[in-house]
Amino acid sequence: SEKEMENRVREIKRELGPRLFMPGHYYQKDEVIQFADETGDSLQLAKIGAANKEAEYIVFCGVHFMAETADILSEDYQTVLLPDLRAGCSMADMAEIGQLEKSWEKLQDTFCDTITPLTYVNSTAAIKAFCGRHEGATLTSSNAPSMLEWAFRQKERILFLPDQHLGRNTAYDLGIPLKEMAVWDPVRQVLEYDGDPEQLRMILWKGHCSVHEKFTMDNVRQVREEEPDANIIVHPECMFDVVQASDAAGSTNKIIDTIRNAPSGSTWAVGTEMNLVNRLTQEETDKTVKSLNPNMCPCLTMNRIDLPHLLWSLESILSAEPHHRIEVDEQTTREATTALQRMLQQ
Ligand code: 13P
Ligand code: SF4
Repeated sequence: SEKEMENRVREIKRELGPRLFMPGHYYQKDEVIQFADETGDSLQLAKIGAANKEAEYIVFCGVHFMAETADILSEDYQTVLLPDLRAGCSMADMAEIGQLEKSWEKLQDTFCDTITPLTYVNSTAAIKAFCGRHEGATLTSSNAPSMLEWAFRQKERILFLPDQHLGRNTAYDLGIPLKEMAVWDPVRQVLEYDGDPEQLRMILWKGHCSVHEKFTMDNVRQVREEEPDANIIVHPECMFDVVQASDAAGSTNKIIDTIRNAPSGSTWAVGTEMNLVNRLTQEETDKTVKSLNPNMCPCLTMNRIDLPHLLWSLESILSAEPHHRIEVDEQTTREATTALQRMLQQ
């Protein structure tokens, strides 16, 4: 039963003590997040992971790219486990390293040596390594503006991947007009742009988050009509029009802080993952918190990590045969570390 599984998780955690560390992303299910040693958004988790030098086992309650980052930043004696290997990310899957190598070559033909590649941490270790190799860096939604500014100090233009929306929303906030941005289609290997290439500042990889793209202008209109006093806050992985029509936008952490610090009695329609929105609804009882999209689904891959998988992963440590180890090879680790450090040092 669920109670038995919960008790067993507690027992194993007690038994392993500091030999085990379990970070959990805010989008994880309550049945999992209740056991996390630390919770956070992707930037916090990367920092927390890098700081823990004590644990022998890091059981990552999040998705594959986060576990890879944890492995990249961890020491040789630390083993990173992901309780379910199917916990991937559809956005990270939209940027494949072979595609990027090909795209880069093609873009160099037009733009010579004027592009800095910047990748959202929601990408594979190989993509991060590419950015490390080509004088680029990683970023998260919490530090996107400062990382874009950093990149523009290096070169004139940015290839931003894999999320076109985060790239567009952040660049626009920094004052770059839409006409200086274009989408790169990595499948067709074409730039969707008919302006002057000299003017182009942001090259946006054609990727998106399938969870955040589900918040639409219809949802915004409906809230405005039915609840004119409600505040709308969304994640910058949402589409440009939706972000523009909202009252605020920001990373997972900013959303949480804004709602926690909001006046009692205020109403919030939130455009981000469902587990987090539901948690805020339960915790912020003096406010009304709901999803911007009433038919919202959770991030299905994040939700692959559930109590049975977590327990199975923990039991495997005790059996001395840890399952689903995430191991990034040495060269990729070295190059990806360069990209991650450029971010962590900012
Ligand atoms: P943050 O945790 O950086 O807000 O990113 C959201 C997300 O989509 C994680 O997969
Ligand atoms: Fe990937 Fe979106 Fe899920 Fe985050 S919420 S893991 S970006 S699919």
